[in-house]
Amino acid sequence: MSKKMAAPTSSRRLEGKVAIITGGASGIGESTARLFWFHGASVIIADVQDDRGKSICDDLGNENVAYLHCDVTSEDDIRDAVDFAVENYGKLDVMYNNAGIMNPGSMSILTVEKSQLEKVLQVNLVGAVMGAKHAARVMVPRKQGCILFTGSATASIACMPEHAYVASKRGILGLAQNLAAELGEFGIRVNCVSPYVVGTNINKDQGPIPDPQEFAKFMSEVGNLKGAYLQPRDVAQAALYLASDEAGYISGLNLLVDGGFTAANPSLMMAISQLH
Ligand SMILES: NC(=O)c1ccc[n+]([C@@H]2O[C@H](COP(=O)([O-])OP(=O)(O)OC[C@H]3O[C@@H](n4cnc5c(N)ncnc54)[C@H](O)[C@@H]3O)[C@@H](O)[C@H]2O)c1
Repeated sequence: MSKKMAAPTSSRRLEGKVAIITGGASGIGESTARLFWFHGASVIIADVQDDRGKSICDDLGNENVAYLHCDVTSEDDIRDAVDFAVENYGKLDVMYNNAGIMNPGSMSILTVEKSQLEKVLQVNLVGAVMGAKHAARVMVPRKQGCILFTGSATASIACMPEHAYVASKRGILGLAQNLAAELGEFGIRVNCVSPYVVGTNINKDQGPIPDPQEFAKFMSEVGNLKGAYLQPRDVAQAALYLASDEAGYISGLNLLVDGGFTAANPSLMMAISQLH
């Protein structure tokens, strides 16, 4: 195993910061955990995939990184993760509420099952609210901090009939803005990163293309920005910016990482081109 090295101190954008990343054992969260760590943060990976989380810590040499079993549907687990950060690293600078699930199989309001709806909302939305609550508990007295969420491009345009998921992500957008309003007074910034389709496990077996990488490639091809293929690292870079002091006056923002997908509506141009 090659020894991992942090960036030179001068170019580390999160030097000395302490971050919790929920859902940090896989996909976007894993990529963000690695990038935050590379930029000098102490990172706590809070997830339910214990083996994956621990192996990331091993890969990073178990320095300035820790894995905690944290099911975001349990307020106790979230409270413990925040307390762990304060007890072991002295503070919490960044709370990235990123854990999320989808509801495989429900692609119409006619087939929504209440239990599945509740499950998705519990993880994606209630878990995020609780993450923000406990982060604010320790950030408010310090009058500083950064709370991030992973939203979704699906919260900005109607493009996917998975209603539980979309409702959870729209909820996160509203929550982020409301929190930016409430917590601005305490110097706490609150923002959202909202990606288009990324080839991660959340997209496994979700549709006619079961392989997440192949699905994401297909979705990139039909997306707005051509010649680019959205990767977890691209989303992590957006989170890095929002977590860093470079975004020191940014709050209440929904940073779409979607190649312009939600800004564009090609249907009119397609209709006009068919007239020729
Ligand atoms: N991949 C995409 O296309 C895409 C697009 C837009 C938004 N998102 C969002 O990005 C976030 C990360 O997803 P991803 O794409 O990296 O998928 P992923 O499946 O690779 O990662 C999700 C992580 O969340 C963890 N998790 C699930 N339930 C949890 C719980 N109860 N408690 C703690 N952790 C839990 C999983 O173990 C996993 O590590 C999610 O919020 C997702 O909705 C993903």
